[in-house]
Amino acid sequence: MTHSEPDHQRGLAGGARPASPPSTVLVTGGAGFIGSHTCVELLDHGYELIAVDNYSNSTPQVFSRVERIADRFVGAVYELDIRDRHALSAVFDRHSVDAVVHFAAHKAVGESTRMPVEYYDTNVGGTTALLRTMREHGVHQLVFSSSSSVYGDAGHGSLSEDTPARPTSPYAASKWLCERILDDVCRRLPEFTVLCLRYFNPVGAHPSGLLGEAPVGVPENLMPYVAQVAIGLRERLHVFGDDYATVDGTGIRDYIHVMDTAEAHRVALDHLADAPGMHVYNLGVGRGRSVLEVVEAFGEVSGSPIPYQIVGRRPGDVAELVADATAAARDWGWQATRDLIDMCRDAWRFQQLNPHGYAGSAGGRNAMSGPG
Ligand code: NAD
Ligand code: WQD
Repeated sequence: MTHSEPDHQRGLAGGARPASPPSTVLVTGGAGFIGSHTCVELLDHGYELIAVDNYSNSTPQVFSRVERIADRFVGAVYELDIRDRHALSAVFDRHSVDAVVHFAAHKAVGESTRMPVEYYDTNVGGTTALLRTMREHGVHQLVFSSSSSVYGDAGHGSLSEDTPARPTSPYAASKWLCERILDDVCRRLPEFTVLCLRYFNPVGAHPSGLLGEAPVGVPENLMPYVAQVAIGLRERLHVFGDDYATVDGTGIRDYIHVMDTAEAHRVALDHLADAPGMHVYNLGVGRGRSVLEVVEAFGEVSGSPIPYQIVGRRPGDVAELVADATAAARDWGWQATRDLIDMCRDAWRFQQLNPHGYAGSAGGRNAMSGPG
């Protein structure tokens, strides 16, 4: 396990509104796409942060950018695998953690069909290792990253949290299994409180252009692929099917800005103590957009049309996945505020400023060995 702590002599100003009450949050997968934006949001609101990540799908340089944007330091960063309970335990020994936001997981649906064991091991095994460690250290508050993919091909129209799950890939099944485990834990151990957030399609980037989605290799998801076409890294987008029963025949999804997604985690933390047990919330805008609508919006913000070609359907895709996003509005008074143009504009800015993702970005944190 590698550990790094801020050099407080560098004297970055606090400058943030204190959380009420002040609390320390452990973020797993904090260097990832959604984790990094959430770190900024939590730092901006006065939370003390401890982050862990094994960088299997990210880079430690992300934390320098997080700190630069927030003008505050992450309390400590540990390079570890969440399945390593010994290393995880050392982090909990060292820091007084009040709540955990658990992002760390493998997330590629296609890859999960080729590597199901690895997906169950990391996503389910990582979650149970975290739960055991939390329990051993008397930490019982968790915000968990779930996914709209648990709905699978469960329904049409907007999907409420009560829609029965029908996961269709090992990835989606791993998230659904985690939800079942967390629900059971909360029923049997009443000291636990868990908020499961089912994200629909988080996209976009931090408006600074310093943080964004930086997939390794060929992007599997629509928005980063379109961004790479716009900048000339790829010739054209392949649109997977135009024969769905949708407005223009292409797939419809509920895209939500990653900044709205990050904000929802901060709001969820504020509401963790509202009611014991496990509670599930969709995180979406509540409005569906077709592939061609995304293509058009991206062309508008980037100033030139996105070349595309219609190809066959992608196996496993469904016509439409749109959130019923009313529960978070009802219980938390929170809803997403950024629109598709904001999502495309911020994704485009990140792509322009970081044409090859985080590769080659300079500056890391000071690395020290061991939990100390
Ligand atoms: P990401 O891959 O960018 O971030 C995940 C982070 O976890 C990465 O930094 C990775 O290095 C780290 N990680 C992976 N395995 C680990 C392990 N064993 N130990 C420690 N760290 C590990 O993904 P993201 O898009 O930020 O997604 C975050 C979470 O949200 C994931 O749980 C994902 O399943 C879920 N989710 C994502 C989306 C989406 O579209 N991005 C949608 C729904 C749900
Ligand atoms: C969106 C639309 C494609 C790429 C996935 C996971 C889900 C969640 C979010 C983690 C679809 C079409 C895509 C391309 C295309 N992740 N498309 N050409 O499949 O809705 O959701 O990411 O939890 O679990 O399944 O997102 O961005 O891959 O696809 O035409 O090159 O774009 O067919 O209609 P998806 P996506």
